[in-house]
Amino acid sequence: MNKKPSIIGRMFDAIAPTYDTLNTILSFSIDKVWRKAAIKSLVIRPGDLVLDVATGTGDLALLATSRGGWVIGIDLSRQMLLHASSKAREQSLDTQYAVVQADALSMPFRNDTFNSAMVAFGIRNMENMDVFLTEIHRVLNPHGRFSILEFSVPEGLPFRWIYLAYLTYVIPCIGYLISGNYDAYRYLSDSVMKFPTPKTLEGIMEKQGFRIIRSRALLGGISHLYLVEKQ
Ligand SMILES: C[S@@+](CC[C@H](N)C(=O)[O-])C[C@H]1O[C@@H](n2cnc3c(N)ncnc32)[C@H](O)[C@@H]1O
Repeated sequence: MNKKPSIIGRMFDAIAPTYDTLNTILSFSIDKVWRKAAIKSLVIRPGDLVLDVATGTGDLALLATSRGGWVIGIDLSRQMLLHASSKAREQSLDTQYAVVQADALSMPFRNDTFNSAMVAFGIRNMENMDVFLTEIHRVLNPHGRFSILEFSVPEGLPFRWIYLAYLTYVIPCIGYLISGNYDAYRYLSDSVMKFPTPKTLEGIMEKQGFRIIRSRALLGGISHLYLVEKQ
């Protein structure tokens, strides 16, 4: 599976116009509940500087601004960022949210810049997990917190089989019908199935200098929410 930033950026550019609609349909709107849980877990204080990695169309970032955070969102895809910026303007939140088109594997920020960082459904796309986590560690303040929301595959049967069938057959078809892009939604399914399990990811984060504060499965393990702290 090719996760080269240029390829990933182009793929998200192509699906940006229908990205929000498909999220709502494919997750039955549960994605919104999960993002709220991620924001709640971070405990953002008014005035905090928050990094939203892989900010996409900005839903997580905009929730963080409602808690008083000043958010910088970074993303590879210019089209996703254009949607994010126009949403921020519509909600009059554009003074608290700035976007930067950049690669999360090499961020244009100084060491120890952010009070906290977050990523929703973006860590799975990183070409090199160790480099990504080293970058997050570098730009976070000492003891800064990092919230990660990502899909996972449930362990329990028969839910696991049902979910795998949904991932493999239903998501790419609905994705194609609405966005016209089968490959992007096939990539979504494949990347979820190949992503490290929560236990493995926790081990990788610990090796990169993070302490695991909380790690919990959401909706039977379809998603997972991690909260870690820079050591
Ligand atoms: C599934 S979307 C998630 C968007 C948003 N966080 C959300 O909650 O809906 C993944 C986003 O990650 C971005 N992305 C993937 N790899 C990236 C990288 N190396 N650096 C920055 N952004 C990246 C993509 O362009 C895309 O907008």
